Amino acid sequence: MSEKATLAINGKSYEFPVVKGTEDELGIDISSLRTSTDGVITLDPGFKNTGSCESAITFLDGEKGILHYRGYGIEELAEKADFLEVVYLLIFGELPTESELEKFHYDIQHQSIVDEDVKKILDAFPKSAHPMGVLCSLTSALTAFNPTSVDVRSEEAMYKSIVKILGKFPVLVAWTMRKKMGLPLNYGSTSLGYVENVLQMMFRQPNEEYTLNPIVVEALDKLLILHADHEQNCSTSTVRIAGSSHAGLFVSLASGISALWGPLHGGANQAVIEMLEAIKADGGDTKKFMAKAKDKNDPFRLMGFGHRVYKNFDPRAKIIKKAADEVLADLGIEDPILEIAKGLEKEALEDPYFVERKLYPNVDFYSGIIYRALGIPTEMFTVMFALGRLPGWIAQWREMRLNKEPIGRPRQIYIGKTLRPFIPVEKR
Ligand code: SDX
Repeated sequence: MSEKATLAINGKSYEFPVVKGTEDELGIDISSLRTSTDGVITLDPGFKNTGSCESAITFLDGEKGILHYRGYGIEELAEKADFLEVVYLLIFGELPTESELEKFHYDIQHQSIVDEDVKKILDAFPKSAHPMGVLCSLTSALTAFNPTSVDVRSEEAMYKSIVKILGKFPVLVAWTMRKKMGLPLNYGSTSLGYVENVLQMMFRQPNEEYTLNPIVVEALDKLLILHADHEQNCSTSTVRIAGSSHAGLFVSLASGISALWGPLHGGANQAVIEMLEAIKADGGDTKKFMAKAKDKNDPFRLMGFGHRVYKNFDPRAKIIKKAADEVLADLGIEDPILEIAKGLEKEALEDPYFVERKLYPNVDFYSGIIYRALGIPTEMFTVMFALGRLPGWIAQWREMRLNKEPIGRPRQIYIGKTLRPFIPVEKR
């Protein structure tokens, strides 16, 4: 017998079914609430207590600092898998066999040419344009060059769209960065792995061969895995709701890129480095910035700290912090802002304000230090987050469409003026 939840309102009581997930999470199914109570709805700004869907892709437990992709622990995937395997796992639900992975990679590689006219759109942007704005526009524009990617109702049609964007998105990422740096826009090679190809497209100089550094490949591969999905975060929820109107995959992804750009979300990785640089320029006085973060009259927040779900360490932050030490040591880089970051973390973890609010370092706190060590410009950090999150967005969009979920359309409680007569302008 499944559990029921009872709600009493207006002198009546109502029963609602309770949904139990495979990790024993409980959700009250209120889909009949408004009709059975003659118009009563719930109110939950920021959806802090509201589930938008049932999903089989990613599980996270914020209290315990747990993150699983399709049942596999993030720690094991970061250690043992490579990014393309995780892409396949998130989208199709199982780790690929060797032949499945080979075909998947082949299909992606043979969809990785972008129409030359896309360069004309890129050329229209000033060099000062933020790469996230450029990437969002180019991703949306891809629809015009791939019109069959819009009306995808069959799994086969979806697959074609999926390998198209997995092939073309890294090209857009590389071209966005190189345009800003005044470098020629090139391609990698179908003889390279997915991540190796990204690095070659981003960093190969026109007058010399590009030598792949295995440390850099491994570091980027790990970072992309750690960013690949995170259940119903802000940008993923945006992709789902855009896709729920049956908008095409590419434009749904473009809406996710827009949401990710915000400094409270994916834009935090850039904001963390800018904050650490400001602290360094200010003489390394972390206490001053801690005070600002706690001052309610000061809009400053400790970027890279806090999380809507994690009220414990973000498991990704732990892995990235360890990787930051390893990558900088392996590359022989001394980066003073890593020490500032560690000092800030230590202070915050001992400060009552942060302890009481359960504010811990999140995925964005250390990731920028590795991107910097890999030679990636600061303004490109959130673009790298988007490259990692692409498979998660795709997986969630596909799940939403295959589950034939209804168009997303929340209700509201109106608190504006009640009906009043129009007054002609001469009488106002
Ligand atoms: C990502 O959702 C996801 O899964 C996101 C993500 C993913 O993989 O998709 O994990 C990626 O977006 C990570 C978060 C990156 N953002 C930042 O690092 C920006 C700094 N962090 C905050 O702005 C904030 O912590 C959020 C936005 C991340 C979460 O905000 P919530 O859940 O809405 O919490 P809140 O704003 O209600 O804060 C609760 C309290 C408040 O104080 P009180 O009103 O209770 O006194 O904590 C305070 C806040 O002022 N607080 C902070 C703080 N974060 C929260 N105070 C100082 N510095 C901070 N960073």
